[in-house]
Formats: sequence, C-alpha cells, structure tokens
Amino acid sequence: MKKTMKKVLCVVMCLALLLATGIVSAFAESDNVISRVSCTINGDTKTQRGFCWYTTEESESQIKISLNGEDVTDALTVYEKMNEEWEGNYVHQLTVSGLTAGSEYTYQVGDGENWSKEGKFTTDDGDQKVNFISIGDVQASSFENFERASYVLDAAFETVPNADFVANMGDFTNDSTNEEWDNYFANFERHNMATSLAPTAGNHDGLGVWHWFENIFNLDESEAVQTLNGVNYSFDYGNAHFAVLNTNDLLCVTLAQMQWLKNDMNKSAADWKIVFMHKSPYTLGKDGKWPDALYLSDVLVKIIDECDVDLVMSGHDHMYLRTKPLADNKVTDGGATYVLGGTAGTKRYEVREFSADLYMKTKFIDAMTIQKGGYGNQWNGKDWNDTDESNVGGVFDAISIDGGNLTLKAYVLSEDTMTTKLIDTLTLTKETGKAKPSFSGDNSTSVFDYALTVIPSFLNLAKYTFINWLPKTLIFLPKIIYYVIKTDTF
Ligand SMILES: [Fe+2]
Repeated sequence: MKKTMKKVLCVVMCLALLLATGIVSAFAESDNVISRVSCTINGDTKTQRGFCWYTTEESESQIKISLNGEDVTDALTVYEKMNEEWEGNYVHQLTVSGLTAGSEYTYQVGDGENWSKEGKFTTDDGDQKVNFISIGDVQASSFENFERASYVLDAAFETVPNADFVANMGDFTNDSTNEEWDNYFANFERHNMATSLAPTAGNHDGLGVWHWFENIFNLDESEAVQTLNGVNYSFDYGNAHFAVLNTNDLLCVTLAQMQWLKNDMNKSAADWKIVFMHKSPYTLGKDGKWPDALYLSDVLVKIIDECDVDLVMSGHDHMYLRTKPLADNKVTDGGATYVLGGTAGTKRYEVREFSADLYMKTKFIDAMTIQKGGYGNQWNGKDWNDTDESNVGGVFDAISIDGGNLTLKAYVLSEDTMTTKLIDTLTLTKETGKAKPSFSGDNSTSVFDYALTVIPSFLNLAKYTFINWLPKTLIFLPKIIYYVIKTDTF
C-alpha cells in the first residue's frame, strides 16, 4: 500500500513539475516583447518592403502578410537580413519581395508565438501619381516631447489620409539612446504601421554608437559608402526618383557619395528628381554658419544642378525656409528648389541675423516661417521681427505629384489652438517624358574603393573650410559678434 502511495505521489509530483515547467515556458514566450516595428521603403516600391523590429529575447524572425484578408506569405520571398543582439535588445530585419503592385497589404511581425499589432502598407501602382508627407527634427528626449511631436504627424495624416509614404528628414532622437528610441516608437508606432516610411539619417541618429541607423530601419543601403553613421539609398515612386543622402559622412558628404548621387540620378528616366538629406545647404538657422552648410551650398549643389534635380528637401535647422529655384547659386527658372521643411518637434530655432547675406543670400528666400514665439517668426521680406503667434508649433509638409504637376504645401499645427494652418504653397510644372538617362553602369563601390576616397574627401572638406569658410568668417567677425550680442543668439 505504501509503495502504491509513493508511486501515486511520484506521478502527481511529476505532473505538477511538468505543469509548472509549461507555465514558466508559456510566461517566457509572452515575455518576449516586440517593439520598434517599422515598414520601410526598400528597393522596388511596387514589389518590395523592408521590415524591422526589436525583441527583448533572442528569437526567430517571422512575418505574416495578408492581402484582402488572406495570408499570402508563402507566395512571397522573405529574406532574413538581420537577427542579432544590438545594444541590449535583439534586432530583426526581413526584406519581403514578390508583392503585387497597387495592393494594400496587412502584416504582423513576431517570433512565431508572439505577434505585433497589425500594420499596413500599400505598394506603388505604377501610375504617375505619388503623395507623401514629410516631417523632420523631432529630436526629442522625453516621452512628452515625442508625444507632442506625434500630434503633428496625426495632423498630417488627417490632411493627407492617402499618403503613400512618410519621409522623415532625420534627427529622430536627441542622443540616440535606447530610452529615446523607445519613446520615439511608443509615440510614432501608429504612423509607422499605417504606411511605409522613408527615413533620412540625421546627425543625432547614432551619436557615439556606429550603425544605429541601419540597425533601426531596414533600408536598401547603397554599397557606395560606409554605413557607420547613416544610409544612402534611392527609389522610384510614381514618376519621381528619390535619392536619400546621408549628410553625416565625415560630418558632411564625401566625394564617393557625390559620385553615387550623380550616377544614381543620371541613371533615372523619371520625370521628377528629388533629394532628401538631413543638413540644409540654404538656411539662416543655428547651423547655417558652419562649414558643412557652406560646403553643401557651394560643392554639393553643383551635382544637384548637373543632374537636373527639381526639389531638395532637408531638415537640421528647425525652421521652415523655401528658396526660389536656384542653379549655379543664382535664382534661375527651372533650377532646383530647396525646402528646409520645418521641425515637427518642440526645439525650434531663431534666425541668426549675422548669417543673412554672409552665409546665405536673403534674395534666395521665397518663403520662411520661424516656428518659435517672440522672435521674428514670419519673414515679410523686410525685417526679422514680424511675429505671428499662430505660427508657433510643429510643421509638416504635404507633397503631391500628378504627372507634370508637383505641389508642396507646408502646414503648422498651432500650439495655441491645435489647428492646422497652411503656411506655404509651392507649385512646379514640367513636361513629362523628357528625361533621358545618361548613365547605365554599375553604381556600387567596394569597401576598398570607398576607403581610397576617404583621405581625398577629408582634404577636400578641410581645404574648403580653410580657404572659403574661415576667411569669410574672420573678415565678418565684428559683424557676427555685434549680432550675437544684440540678439543673444549664436
Ligand atoms: Fe541635425
């Protein structure tokens, strides 16, 4: 009898142990938290997308993609680009190809047991239309400031409910810490999972730690340059070609990047050519006084001119400024229009009066809005102090291309009233079907070839700084000091 009792007790204990192990294992699975989900433009916008997400546990990278409610994942090609530990979490990147043009897909990412919320994206249908939203410089640290900036993108989605993608001009965070990226995704997940994202690397997106940007978004990075501090890539959408430039390489752009941009643009037969980059060649904000801005406006713009780029969109200087069309640094019909698209964030810059006609010609300005209260937030062409308090708030841009017409509208989300106000409209028109590609070769560069360009690039930047920027700055130093004291800004 005792033996039988012992056996029964043993079986019960074993069952209890198995049950406990099962419960622990079930909890372990549910502890694998999925976060930082994004669906990015990656290669062919008709057939391919990049997905990236993070988990707290080492786990498989899986995706479920549905079309009209039916799981179509098995019919697609899923390439695992990355599954590795990164800065205390696990980063997962899958590239999905074989999608059908002009289709709205839903998706979930996960480890096979735990799944993210459902996101959606729509592939390009191949017509001559594209609508997108652009924001930039959220550059927040606290949850509250990310939250306030997220309302700007909410307003943008209300204004452009059919956006094909959201372009972000960079500086997603201030210090690129895990906490800041978590705060960013906590507030922008609803946007990142509602359409595709085309991100541009900002100088704050990876401070002190290499490779943050390529590890936070799955992009079709060009091999022409390194990816330590940002990514260069390009894509077609509608009848437009977009090149996204990393302006952090050697603190600016290198010779290899400029060659890549030139080949990339000259390879395209698209009607519209658009460049996204974080730093602005033409600006009167805090960063317009440094050699990198001058280098961009004197050296990079020559490539922009050569390639017949129509529109250059940028950020970095936390104000809205649109130039007249420029070519060869002169106002020229048919030249490129440069739009420093304003900040969606809460950190906003004043005009640096000493920069006016020293580092940037004010005659280039066609529209400008300083988003900050109490100091010249409305450029009226005469002075910097025509304040309009309804312009205080975050800015977003809505761009629409339809055949030969391009319209850019800039809006501010007024902090006072939380209403959206139009602050600028740009319209461009052109005859379509005229662009002829002038380059057809391979536009990739080996790591070795890139390495060979680093020293010449550095010397080019250094030469420019000492021969062009420094003398100009020294000669006008008394003017700079006068305005710095007068306005208490540098
Ligand atoms: Fe920046």
